Amino acid sequence: MRRTGIAPGLERTFQRRLLRWYRSHGRNLPWRKTRDPYRILVSEVMLQQTQVERVLGFYDTFLTRYPTVEELASARPGEVREAWGGLGYYARARNLHRTARQLIRRHRGHFPKTFGEVCALPGVGRSTAGALLSFAFHIDSPILDTNVKRLLSRVFIQRTSPTPAHSERRLWRLSASVIPKGRGWTFNQALMDFGALVCTAKNPRCDACCFTDICHAYARWTLRGVDRRG
Ligand code: ADE
Repeated sequence: MRRTGIAPGLERTFQRRLLRWYRSHGRNLPWRKTRDPYRILVSEVMLQQTQVERVLGFYDTFLTRYPTVEELASARPGEVREAWGGLGYYARARNLHRTARQLIRRHRGHFPKTFGEVCALPGVGRSTAGALLSFAFHIDSPILDTNVKRLLSRVFIQRTSPTPAHSERRLWRLSASVIPKGRGWTFNQALMDFGALVCTAKNPRCDACCFTDICHAYARWTLRGVDRRG
């Protein structure tokens, strides 16, 4: 047993099956075809609180208008808000603009590679920082957005934690320990896709899931004959 309390063999089974699932079902998304940290930053900020399908309608247009961090940094705030269009949650546009300015001022236009520096950027929380480090620099940095939290809790957590903070710490440890060494990019993208496409909040597609034999939530639901809607 490790600090996660999960048997290493179980983590390895999860890794192997998730990577296999991603090879045939992973989504082909524009921000997965670039290694430019700026383009990845824009995608991750747009994807905060917003679904992939909606972001797809805004991503390319925004990047056509601001193709580089320098161009975004030198824009006026009103212009950036306008370019953000109907994506909503405008605090994100403001933070993205401030981040671009910080990258120019403090980092000479280069994207920082340490967790502490990335977390210090406006509007970048722990999970977005993990996504940026793993997707832009292939660093094995954990993520824990809503989808990933739900997936890991359902599969691995048998007993509820005494407090929400305890549960959160446990899930962060788990999210870090399940990443196969050197596979942070693929594994984190796979976690996100599996959470969005199969292990959904409502009506999870357990019929299409490769983890039902190891999933604690599935065992609870089937034992009790519970309907999984909601
Ligand atoms: N949500 C946040 N980041 C994402 C990504 N890179 N791919 C799909 N969904 C996401």
